Amino acid sequence: MPTLLGSNILLGVTGGIAAYKSADLVRRLKDAGAEVRVVMTEGATRFVTPLTFQAVSGNPVRLDLLDPAAEAGMGHIELARWADTILVAPASANFMARLAQGMADDLLTTLCLATEAQLVLAPAMNRIMWRNPATQANADLLRGRGVRLLGPGEGEQACGEVGAGRMLEPTELVAALMSGEELAGVEVLITAGPTREPIDPVRYITNRSSGKWASRWPPPRKGPVRALP
Ligand SMILES: Cc1cc2nc3c(=O)[nH]c(=O)nc-3n(C[C@H](O)[C@H](O)[C@H](O)COP(=O)(O)O)c2cc1C
Repeated sequence: MPTLLGSNILLGVTGGIAAYKSADLVRRLKDAGAEVRVVMTEGATRFVTPLTFQAVSGNPVRLDLLDPAAEAGMGHIELARWADTILVAPASANFMARLAQGMADDLLTTLCLATEAQLVLAPAMNRIMWRNPATQANADLLRGRGVRLLGPGEGEQACGEVGAGRMLEPTELVAALMSGEELAGVEVLITAGPTREPIDPVRYITNRSSGKWASRWPPPRKGPVRALP
């Protein structure tokens, strides 16, 4: 069973309502064995205090790019080198846009430019923001550069709407990091022949299944089941 033991995860928190879930995410990453350091955008600090992340991570939280005290010790380049993975959760639409443009106008975007670590984003925003062509273009651009996007999930949103845009739950994010690869887009073929359900030690109920049927995941858009030739 893979764990995150020995991995250095830099968690970036940006200004979205899902930032409150990121404190739980820190705990779950640590439970999985990771060392976690947190960098927050200015926007994120309006949703959750740095003190919360300091308490759960056990490390000082970094906020400013131009911080002379930090440069003397764990500066932005050192942080960028330290991380095996930079996980940004939640990743706001604004952050994704800045990252897609290669901007380095705060500590988190600068770190993302200055690192060779795997970049992983957990987008979280209102469903219309997520569907917006600008956000979709940014997401495609980032994927094309090897950035891994986890989610967003679907469901009820903080704004009261329902749709795609929810940040994946902390447990789902940790599981995705441990598995290394998402299953989304992977085709899984499941086949099954006849089944036998015992009635008693002598008799059973069965069916005439030939075993030539296959269901696909993800299911095809039209027709849930396809017969193999
Ligand atoms: C109450 C409130 C909730 C917000 N939630 C989100 C959100 O979930 N996702 C998002 O992309 N932006 C959200 N925003 C907008 C961001 O906070 C805004 O774009 C900000 O500039 C993000 O800054 P950052 O990306 O530097 O952290 C929200 C704004 C407010 C006022």
